[in-house]
Amino acid sequence: MKICVLPGDGIGPEIIDQTLRVLEAMRGDGVNFEAEFALVGGAAVDATGKPLPEATSRLADEADALLLGAVGGPKWDSYPRDQRPELGLLGIRKQLQLFANLRPAILYPELANASSLKPEIVAGLDILIVRELTGDIYFGQPRGIREENGERVGFNTMIYSESEIRRIGKVAFEAARKRGKKLCSVDKMNVLETTQLWRDVMIELSADYPDVELTHMLVDNAAMQLVRAPKQFDVMVTGNMFGDILSDEASMLTGSIGMLPSASLNAEGKGMYEPSHGSAPDIAGKNLANPLATMLSAAMMLRYSFNLEAQAARIENAVKKVLAAGYRTGDIYEPGTRRVGTKEMGDAVIAAL
Ligand code: NAI
Ligand code: MG
Repeated sequence: MKICVLPGDGIGPEIIDQTLRVLEAMRGDGVNFEAEFALVGGAAVDATGKPLPEATSRLADEADALLLGAVGGPKWDSYPRDQRPELGLLGIRKQLQLFANLRPAILYPELANASSLKPEIVAGLDILIVRELTGDIYFGQPRGIREENGERVGFNTMIYSESEIRRIGKVAFEAARKRGKKLCSVDKMNVLETTQLWRDVMIELSADYPDVELTHMLVDNAAMQLVRAPKQFDVMVTGNMFGDILSDEASMLTGSIGMLPSASLNAEGKGMYEPSHGSAPDIAGKNLANPLATMLSAAMMLRYSFNLEAQAARIENAVKKVLAAGYRTGDIYEPGTRRVGTKEMGDAVIAAL
């Protein structure tokens, strides 16, 4: 397993260090990897003047999977557009055609009080949002702002081809097959033709997945249902824009930004794995960051890029154990639990493995 490791900026290097220690501790249990480090984001701008240097692009191409910390920070906010750290991530997504974004929202029973919803509504929540990442209104042409009849008019184009819908649909059906076998496709077919096609293609695909129960929901209702009765969902699949909004909404049900992993996959199953949070410059370099989202991202890497389901579950179970034992970084701390730093959380997870 050749893994391209991209620590990035802010807390990135600290959470990546602890995650690599966890993977290191699993050598011999089928986790035999070679880590190749590369620069991305602000760190890459500082060293080379570019957020995505050629050497990083090359390593990204050669690797079987990519593990990323986070990029960005106030230092680079005033830099010109072509030197913005986030261009590094967008560039890799585009280069590798990472069209499928998988974002689980899991509420661990020990963290039930962290949610903005009542414990009885969210306890045991375990949903997976599959968001299309390379199409939709975010990329459709034409787009712009023009003058029309003496005023400015803004316009964007919502567009999806049948093949784009089919490939994200397949990822979602496959994921549902590995989980609770329920897939809810979210669209706005009553108003938008693009999403009528989305629904039609999902229905056609469902013939290949008789074991998965497909349902449909309009996006406005889905937004309501996520806060009314989120546990009705297993896997949700939707386009880029609806998925952007719904996945952020779902992540807040768990209340803990430091716990949420993500995967972005391409058609060959190659993926980039990263925590959902950013580079947290306010706590960088202080041994305060929660490394669990990054470790859970590494678990997704073992599951989706290397088919190592048992080893993925081993990391996830170790995380559950340390939470049950009361270990907490600052972001998930409550009185009565045991406050630890980034490195000590790494130690605890390794001991639990
Ligand atoms: P953020 O997610 O970095 O931080 C938001 C808040 O959550 C902060 O108070 C931070 O301390 C806390 N936090 C985040 N991750 C944590 C962790 N693992 N453990 C404990 N606390 C944690 O979002 P923010 O502040 O909006 O952005 C900071 C920088 O990160 C910006 O430059 C932004 O562009 C970048 N960013 C990068 C992303 C990426 O690399 N994928 C995604 C989102 C933001
Ligand atoms: Mg978003």
